[in-house]
Amino acid sequence: MFISKLPNTGTNIFSTMSALALQHNAINLGQGFADYPMNQSLCNLVQKHMLLDKNQYAPMAGVPELRQAICNKTTRLYNKSFDIDHEITITPGGTYAIYTALTAIMQPGDEVIILEPAYDSYLANIEMNGGVAVLVPLNNPDFSVDWQKVKNAVTAKTKAIIVNTPHNPGSYIFSPHDWQSLTEIVSNTSIYIISDEVYEHIVLDGAQHESILRYPSLWDRCFAVFSFGKVFHNTGWKLGYCIAPKQLMNEYKKIHQFIAFTCNTPMQYAIAEFLQNENEYLQLPAFFQHKRDLFLNAMQDSGFTLYQKAAGSFFQTMGYQAISDRKDTDFTIWLAQEFKVATIPVSAFYKNGSNEKLVRFCFAKKDETLLAAAERLRKI
Ligand SMILES: Cc1ncc(COP(=O)(O)O)c(C=O)c1O
Repeated sequence: MFISKLPNTGTNIFSTMSALALQHNAINLGQGFADYPMNQSLCNLVQKHMLLDKNQYAPMAGVPELRQAICNKTTRLYNKSFDIDHEITITPGGTYAIYTALTAIMQPGDEVIILEPAYDSYLANIEMNGGVAVLVPLNNPDFSVDWQKVKNAVTAKTKAIIVNTPHNPGSYIFSPHDWQSLTEIVSNTSIYIISDEVYEHIVLDGAQHESILRYPSLWDRCFAVFSFGKVFHNTGWKLGYCIAPKQLMNEYKKIHQFIAFTCNTPMQYAIAEFLQNENEYLQLPAFFQHKRDLFLNAMQDSGFTLYQKAAGSFFQTMGYQAISDRKDTDFTIWLAQEFKVATIPVSAFYKNGSNEKLVRFCFAKKDETLLAAAERLRKI
């Protein structure tokens, strides 16, 4: 008999909703990816490097030009430089980076704390490594963290805590106070922190991104995870990176060399060159803020309830209890079938579901897509 490592896992909700969107010819505000073309100059740079025959295996840690460009960026933004030979690995996306970090540190039976709602790969990645996910709920309705609850969840078996800022699906962004509270919990323990920051450049309303890299007292225990896909509108490239201190990155690379080993070479060169122009990332908050505001304006007269404007990421959650008392999975299927708009039910981000009657809209879409979707949603 085949024994599954993930007996309770089926096709994830993102694939299901994207398939449903296709089937019903629905506008897809579900899965988190752009429906507009990515930057053409970045495409041209890929072609340039392919033609320069940068087409063989890159070094295991990634091409040095890209590692250096990232170091320049973290120094500029977070006042944190690192050793590009020993403290960074370019990865096939952020999800892989998280999986690899967990695999590097975990032993069977270890506990890892995750804050729910949570990006769904965390739970699976912990279970694939023979660990136990300890679930701590975020506050309702703003998805802020109740640090006392996190503290209460810590046991002698806690190996790591995974945090995510800006947050998917809740769009909450960490403040210095959050990092301070986490520091107090982990100091005098050997708990690692995996900080998922794939939306680092999507922090809205003039706020600044509070990367873990800004906090020297957490450096020794951190794996900071980033992705180019979300911020440069090319999720299909699956390219990201992990930054961690040398002793942790050493173990990380042992795992990495036997799973992916390396990532796509010409795209690494292209991004390295693209990052030379800091405006490419500095203009992202304004770009996404425009989209959030456009969508929320268009949704003003809808039956959906706005509890909190998205502070970061490109997701907006809204309540639908004024419209329907269906559970959220049924509601989103009904929405896709009857009103031709695909969304994601927030319960999908909980191990055991939830009944908060919230849906998540992705606003990384063309303006006309957002307006057309809102027009349909206003009719409900
Ligand atoms: C919080 C979070 N982390 C990581 C990822 C995955 O990033 P990547 O596509 O680079 O694996 C996502 C994608 O939805 C996400 O929402």
